[in-house]
Amino acid sequence: MCGISAYIGFREAYPIVINGLKRLEYRGYDSTGIMIFDGEEMQLSKTKGKVSDLELITDNDEVRKKGNIGMGHTRWATHGVPNDVNSHPHFSQSGDLVIVHNGIIENYDTIKKELINRGYIFKSDTDTEVLVSLIEEVKKRENCKLGQAVQLALNTVIGAYAITVFDRTKPDEIVVARLGSPIAIGVGEDNKEFFIASDASPFIEYTKNAIYLEDEEMAIIKIGKKVKVHKIHDDSKVDPIIQKLQMNLEQIEKGGYDHFMLKEIHEQPKAITDTFRGRLLADKNMIKMSSIDDNLDRFLNANRIIIIACGTSWHAGLVAEYLIEDMARIPVEVEYASEFRYRNPIITDKDIVIAISQSGETADTLAAIKLAKSKGAFVYGVCNVVGSSIARETHSGAYTHAGPEIGVASTKAFTTQITVLTLIALKLGKANNSLTDDAFNNYLHKMQLIPKQVQELLKIDEHVKSIAAVYKDATNCLYLGRGFNFPVALEGALKLKEISYIHAEGYPAAEMKHGPIALIDENMPTFVIATKKGHYEKVVSNIQEIKARSGKIIAIVTKGDTQVREIADHVIEIPETEEALTPLLTTIPFQLLSYHIAVMLGKNVDQPRNLAKSVTVE
Ligand code: F6R
Repeated sequence: MCGISAYIGFREAYPIVINGLKRLEYRGYDSTGIMIFDGEEMQLSKTKGKVSDLELITDNDEVRKKGNIGMGHTRWATHGVPNDVNSHPHFSQSGDLVIVHNGIIENYDTIKKELINRGYIFKSDTDTEVLVSLIEEVKKRENCKLGQAVQLALNTVIGAYAITVFDRTKPDEIVVARLGSPIAIGVGEDNKEFFIASDASPFIEYTKNAIYLEDEEMAIIKIGKKVKVHKIHDDSKVDPIIQKLQMNLEQIEKGGYDHFMLKEIHEQPKAITDTFRGRLLADKNMIKMSSIDDNLDRFLNANRIIIIACGTSWHAGLVAEYLIEDMARIPVEVEYASEFRYRNPIITDKDIVIAISQSGETADTLAAIKLAKSKGAFVYGVCNVVGSSIARETHSGAYTHAGPEIGVASTKAFTTQITVLTLIALKLGKANNSLTDDAFNNYLHKMQLIPKQVQELLKIDEHVKSIAAVYKDATNCLYLGRGFNFPVALEGALKLKEISYIHAEGYPAAEMKHGPIALIDENMPTFVIATKKGHYEKVVSNIQEIKARSGKIIAIVTKGDTQVREIADHVIEIPETEEALTPLLTTIPFQLLSYHIAVMLGKNVDQPRNLAKSVTVE
């Protein structure tokens, strides 16, 4: 939700900031801006639209003058419509201070009124312009340095933020602060240069040394000096930990694919293999996960497991409900984090909460974790982004190891989340004897085949593309599945909605007759998962009901199926596996289908309108 990219050092700042913004564009892309300090003046360029639009207007602009300090922003609007004026960076009233901000200042209106009473005039509708003028007001009033002014101002604001502030009258330093939104500081050799960004991707080719600020911390970054970090609220000093980044440039580039989403769909065999690595030991009939072993008693004696997540991660949580209850016979509830956090849930220290998040930064999930912890629950995280807020806030957890996911529509994050959750379900099932040794060992051997089966399945791309061509102009679609594949139907519908803007609904197949069947006619395609085993015969009946009403059926079936083939308009085959493992396969055709439909409709696949990859606001 908004991306920040800034630089202070000896290199030309413009290309570093612009390239950084491009890499962060998945976080927000409705408007953007850049400020380059040319040694005297702050050159500002802002525009509605994408970073490529910003490049167009800055191409022959003053902003490209040599300047070694700069900051930029790519926005996902909260206060004020996306337009040039509301884009960041924002100047203070005097024009001496400049800020970029990710987050929301909730009491901005009160502060704004006070500042207006003192003669401040605001150009934009943003809370951010209010914040930078508040910092200026405090600086004047207290006659203090920028860092102190930032600190005093932040102590009067309510909300969430990651900010980067610069004062042109003191041009050797940048101040950054964080509460609720991530910020990383890349530290150059001998502290000669620093990079500031919402994640480490903008500076990966310059330095592998990064400091991740924790919540309620701020840093004073001065050329040639060690970064000074202290708490925002009580002034106590913090020893910053410099982490070595594992990420490499290749992982955050498209690698020959037209879109990140397509690349990430195709990366799934490797991503799932990486999730297995060191954990799935099929030849030893073992699953090794120290985070579960270390807390095994807790898991086995839990009253229940509550899974909290949002969006696609919530769908992975629903799959986990089916898996854990089936394999380990432990009661599971799955909740939207955004509901859980506000509905005064009953949680005790005998409950285990599993929080699932690709980004590890989702504000609702983070708040729900804090609530669960405050009530004594043990919280286990399933995250992709290493070192993310959720990974740090949870008591224990497992990374999915999917690698960076940049396409806004989640793909490999989903399948790797299901992979980790399947391993957990199997491990718990084995530990409490809900699964026989034979069943457990059989699952491990079938699991091991999954990456190859996904690889095989990806070869259906052209076939799926031809189906996409038939249904690309549909205005409504239905997605049906049962049991383990009901959440996959929800996820399939979400993928289509997100990137093609076609309305789609996911339903448990048998629920269709309780309402959605009224929608069925020859213009309404139904995508249905009808794999063998599971509830095959029941789903076949549902397909018949749809066909009887002239509905179009696109069915995902098990290889060799003949019964559905006879009645469906199109079939897509998946390889044979255990029913509980099919979500790892049935998901793939739905991902490809949404992708091709969105491409055919000319939509921006990687950056769909109104969405952002990491939702760090409520
Ligand atoms: C959908 C999608 C979103 C996210 C949701 C949670 O493709 O990406 O629905 O799943 O915003 O995000 P994380 O998993 O980062 O907490």
